[in-house]
Amino acid sequence: MDPPHPSRACRGNRKGIVMPAPALRGTVQLPADKSIAHRALLLNAMGEGSAVISLHRPGGDVRSTAAALADLGALRTLTDADDNATAPVRYHVTGGGRARAALPGTDPVTLDCGNAGTLMRLLTGAATTRAGRTVLTGDDSLSARPMERVAEPLRAMGARVTTTDGHAPVTIDGGVPLLPGAHHLRIASAQVLGALVLAAVAADGVTTITTPGPTRDHTERLLTFLGAEVSRTGLTTTVHGPARWECRDIDVPADPSGAAFWLVAGAIHPRADIILPLVGLNPTRVGVIRVLERMGAHIEVIPAELPGPEPAGRLRIRSGPRLRAIELAAPEVADVIDELPVLAIAMAAAEGTSTLTGAGELRVKESDRIALTVAGLRAIGVDAHELPDGWRITGSPVRTTSSSGSATVATGGDHRIAMAFAIADLVGVGTLDCDVDDPACADISYPGFFDDLGSLL
Ligand code: S3P
Repeated sequence: MDPPHPSRACRGNRKGIVMPAPALRGTVQLPADKSIAHRALLLNAMGEGSAVISLHRPGGDVRSTAAALADLGALRTLTDADDNATAPVRYHVTGGGRARAALPGTDPVTLDCGNAGTLMRLLTGAATTRAGRTVLTGDDSLSARPMERVAEPLRAMGARVTTTDGHAPVTIDGGVPLLPGAHHLRIASAQVLGALVLAAVAADGVTTITTPGPTRDHTERLLTFLGAEVSRTGLTTTVHGPARWECRDIDVPADPSGAAFWLVAGAIHPRADIILPLVGLNPTRVGVIRVLERMGAHIEVIPAELPGPEPAGRLRIRSGPRLRAIELAAPEVADVIDELPVLAIAMAAAEGTSTLTGAGELRVKESDRIALTVAGLRAIGVDAHELPDGWRITGSPVRTTSSSGSATVATGGDHRIAMAFAIADLVGVGTLDCDVDDPACADISYPGFFDDLGSLL
C-alpha cells in the first residue's frame, strides 16, 4: 500500500497518520516572504532596465503578482519549480519607468489579483503611474474586502480611482499628475501606505504619509535599496518625487509568517527540534518571536548574510517548558497581525487565560479571522471567546494521544486558518482531533505546507 500522503494529515480520512505527532524534527526551507516578493516584483516593474527576482516556492498570491505583471508585458518566468523544490523560481522583470517611475503600457488592461489583498492595494497606487486605464479584479474573498481605504487617500492626491461600492473591481485612470503634500491615514496599514508611496514616487515634490500606528516597512527599504529618495521617521514616510530607479536583482528571504507555524508547533510540542534557514528578520515582522519568547519559548536566532535591503537569519526552535498565557494589545498587534491565528493555537496550549485586543483588522482579512479562529477552537473543545477586536482563550495541556473523536474546522478558504488548525492537530491542542475543511487553501501563501508537515514527523 502507498504511504499516506501528508497533505491528508488534516482531512477526515487521515489515512493512518497518527496525530498528535510523536516528535517533530527537521529543517524546513520555507517559501519566500510574500510581502517582500510582491514589492520586489512590482517595484522592478516600475524601474528602468531589467532584473531577476529569485524566490523559493511562490504561493498563489505571489503567482498572481507575477501573472499581473506578465499581462502588462513586464515579466517572464526564467525558471519555475515544484512547490517544495529546493531551487528558487526566477522571474525576469522589465521596468516601465524612465524619467520617473511607472508601470508599463498605455492600453486599457484588466488584471486579476486573485486572493491577494496586498497586490490589489499596492497595484491601485502603482497603476496611477501607468498612462492607460487599469481595472483590478479579485476572487470572491478579495471582492468582499474594503478598497475605499486605499482609493480615498489616492483621490485626495488627485488620482482617478473608483471602486465598486467600496470593493473590487477597482478602476484606475492613470497618467494624471498627482499632488505632493501631507497625508494622514486613518488606518495603520502597510498596504495602504505602500499604495500611496507607489503613487507619490511619480508626483512632482515631497509627499509625507503619516499612519496612526506602526506598519511593516518593506516598501521604504526596497525603494531605498533601488536608489529612490524615500525614508521613514517614526510613523511618517517621506517620498521625494519624481523618483526614478534602475532595476536590481533581488533574492527574497523566507517568510517569517510561514516560519510562525513551525515556531508555534516547536514551542508547544514536547519533543521538537526544528531549523528554519534564511528567514526574513525585519523587526516589523518578527513580533511572533518576541511574543513566543514572552510566553516562555526559547528560539535561537543566528543572523545570516543576504545581499539586499532585508535582514535574514536562521531560526531554531526546541521544546521547552509549557508556555505561559499572554496579553496582547495594540500597538504590538501590528507586528503579529498575520500570525494571530497560529498564536491563538499557542494560547490554547498555554497555562492560564490569554487575551487579544486591538486586532479589529482581523475581521477584514481573507476571512473574519476572529470569528473563524474562535469557532475553530471551540469546535475542538478549547475554552475560547470572541471579543469585538480580539479574543480570550484559556489554555489546557496538549494531548499526547489521538482523541476518540474529531471535529471539522471551517477555514472560510483562508490559508492562515487552515495552517493554524493543522498545527493544532499536529501538536494535540484541544480535546478533539481536527480536520480542516479546505487544506488546499494553504497554497495561497505556503504551497507544500503539508509536505513540510509530513517531513517533520
Ligand atoms: C501586508 C500588510 C498587512 C498584512 C498583509 C500583508 C503587506 O496588511 O496583514 O498580509 O504586505 O503590506 P495591512 O497593511 O492591511 O495591515
